[in-house]
Amino acid sequence: MIEQVIMEREKIYNGNLLLVNARYPLKNTGKERKEGLVPACLHFPAILLKRDAANILQMVLEKISPGRLIVPVSGYRTQKEQEDIYNSSLRDNGEEFTKKYVALPCHSEHQTGLAIDLGIYKEKIDFIRPDFPYTGICNKFRKAAPAYGFIERYQKDKEEITGISHEPWHFRYVGYPHSRIITDNNFSLEEYIEFIKNYTENNRLVYKDKCNATIQIYYVPAEDQTVINLPARYTSQVSGNNTDGFIVTIWRKS
Ligand code: DAL
Ligand code: ZN
Repeated sequence: MIEQVIMEREKIYNGNLLLVNARYPLKNTGKERKEGLVPACLHFPAILLKRDAANILQMVLEKISPGRLIVPVSGYRTQKEQEDIYNSSLRDNGEEFTKKYVALPCHSEHQTGLAIDLGIYKEKIDFIRPDFPYTGICNKFRKAAPAYGFIERYQKDKEEITGISHEPWHFRYVGYPHSRIITDNNFSLEEYIEFIKNYTENNRLVYKDKCNATIQIYYVPAEDQTVINLPARYTSQVSGNNTDGFIVTIWRKS
């Protein structure tokens, strides 16, 4: 049985796979969307994430048991907060630094509620560039995260593509298995969003995971009203890509 879902064009601006960068701004920043945000961690109630991202973050942390060694530094930001961070960094650190490490207001993943900066516990944590080394518990987090849905978003040597310098502390929730595929192939999110366009409803990417789940992924270009066919008996998800279409993910039992 197939269920037909009709997606209005503006739905491309919703979902876990939004590509937000200098080229593709976040929409709807005027009406801030605080709904659906929850504390990223119990001990830091002011640092918010979208509910799914926060739940999954907890699962990664439970897996690696960091105690208080990993500290959430920055999660969801409003437009005003991103403006304030950008302007104060311009003033304190100059333009060159700011362009490397702070996204322009409307262009920050932090405004989606899907991104979190993490730091290793220290007396003084740098808010813009927290320390999150490739060793010890931080690297344990980095290695565990893709099995749950998070990616290290601004990798080394991808600066030309992402427009942002290497940020070992910035993690982005995209959902599993996208996180696994992105990490295993060393894709930037920009590259992954392009890569997925090679797959269509009639030529799907088929991903078999370690637990023998078979997951199908494909792209559907947006029309004014896009018809997406979903099998009624399987779990599926449709995310906008924030640029021009939708990414469909279908979990099948194998
Ligand atoms: N530090 C990242 C790029 C941001 O400001 O969104
Ligand atoms: Zn960040």
